[in-house]
Amino acid sequence: MDDTRIRKVVILGGGTAGWMAACYLGKALGPTVSVTVLEAPAVPRIGVGEATVPNLHKVFFDFLGLSEDEWMRECNASFKLGIRFLNWRTPGAGEALARRGSDGRPDRFDHLFGLLPDHENLPLSHYWAYRKLTGATDEPFDRACYPQPAVMDANLSPRFLDGTKWANYAWHFDANLVAEFLCRFATGKLEVAHVQDLYTHAEFDHRGFVTAINTETGRRLEGDLFVDCSGFRSLLMNQAMREPFLDMSDYLLNDSAVATAVKNDDAADGVEPYTSAIAMSSGWTWKIPMLGRFGTGYVYSSRFQSQDEATVEFCRMWGLDPEDQPLNQIRFRVGRNRRAWVRNCVGIGLSSCFLEPLESTGIYFTYAALYQLVKHFPDKRFEPILIDRFNHEIEKMFDDTRDFIQAHFGFAPRDDTPFWRTCKELEFADDFKEKVAMYKAGLPVETPVADENNYYGNFEAEFRNFWNNSNYYCVFAGLGVLPDHPLPALSLRPDAADTAEAVFTDVKRRQAELSESLPSTYEYLRRLHGGE
Ligand code: TRP
Repeated sequence: MDDTRIRKVVILGGGTAGWMAACYLGKALGPTVSVTVLEAPAVPRIGVGEATVPNLHKVFFDFLGLSEDEWMRECNASFKLGIRFLNWRTPGAGEALARRGSDGRPDRFDHLFGLLPDHENLPLSHYWAYRKLTGATDEPFDRACYPQPAVMDANLSPRFLDGTKWANYAWHFDANLVAEFLCRFATGKLEVAHVQDLYTHAEFDHRGFVTAINTETGRRLEGDLFVDCSGFRSLLMNQAMREPFLDMSDYLLNDSAVATAVKNDDAADGVEPYTSAIAMSSGWTWKIPMLGRFGTGYVYSSRFQSQDEATVEFCRMWGLDPEDQPLNQIRFRVGRNRRAWVRNCVGIGLSSCFLEPLESTGIYFTYAALYQLVKHFPDKRFEPILIDRFNHEIEKMFDDTRDFIQAHFGFAPRDDTPFWRTCKELEFADDFKEKVAMYKAGLPVETPVADENNYYGNFEAEFRNFWNNSNYYCVFAGLGVLPDHPLPALSLRPDAADTAEAVFTDVKRRQAELSESLPSTYEYLRRLHGGE
């Protein structure tokens, strides 16, 4: 008998992270490992309308054996073709519609999913930059290279009525519904044990490994591996294990949010198939449409605006009365634990790391960490190399995303308030400065790796390619930051630039075809969720 095998996994916390962990580990580790979730019934969950990224389905739900239609129905999910950034260039208080810039154009750009096609071994973005920088086009990057923006303008669906998908897309949903659904799935289909009780303290052995956690009613849960999903309090990682939290407020200023849900007249106004990120005087507001309502929240910096001021600006934008409207006031910490995994304890979700939701990476961080945990899953020897490699992956995932988000604020041309001015004074990490230099010199940034089948079922490429050249182009070019000049090698190949014309023409043809044949997002969702 192999007695080094892990037999018992204990998960502390039953929010989105806790139940995602229970399902993912329950499925991946199989029936010889017991999984227990300790959930305090009284602890409120944070979820206030969540936006996600496309690989959620492939890496998480499909792995569990759940079909998209099935989990979408359970979670009242809606579609997301990307993020529309509004008013990041022009000065002014929060406004839900795009202002006009001095060039007379609406102040908006889209961050879309998926890779741009290559033409003659260079991504299409580079032909757009070539044309733009040589004065051959004045069309914005997103509208020149993708059919999506026009489809989004008309609130059309990412799927045809027969279910066929025409683009990469992600989802919006209420995270509380996801947690409840995953709880039923874990306990019903995967034999995960659910203990409802309040955590009191952990016990350790002489090496500092956690041996058990105790509850208020005197229960003692023993385990070989503990997963901390206790949210911002980080009961095991920060408190019991005393692993330091690295604060990153020198990269990102926002530390607060005020959030609510607003009714929407779907039949009259349509359901927008995208997240909006609306720039405000000291931060930005998310808008996450779902059937019948949208979730929204103003993410701001308490250094530059008080809770009252932020609430007034936010409510004024949506025409809400701050006295009547139920508002969720949130404080958050930005940063990550120095190590995500220490001895036999791993943090997943907010107990491990948190970034403001500007690029919808919260739930992604949870399942990406679960994927890495299973890939590096230990036995009772807890070999340091497994732990070190896992920690390295989490660090890179987090820090790359932090830098990319920082760039949204740093590169936004507006400097009308102390908040926006201070964003420009913050320094970028060295790694990121190099990416910016590559972009400026016309090189592709983060060239994707081939998405080949491998032992891990294709998932490696999902993570390696997460931030790729297309992401940088959408956001940098969208904010008006262009390469200094076209890629020198491309200037020697005017023939390649000429033949790229056909690709741009094809984007327009596709866009016209889609606009004529797609159902509205509202119609599609109404059918999916079953009726009126
Ligand atoms: N490559 C990621 C994806 O397509 C990048 C991403 C994260 C993203 N958040 C986003 C792209 C929001 C567009 C909008 O999933």
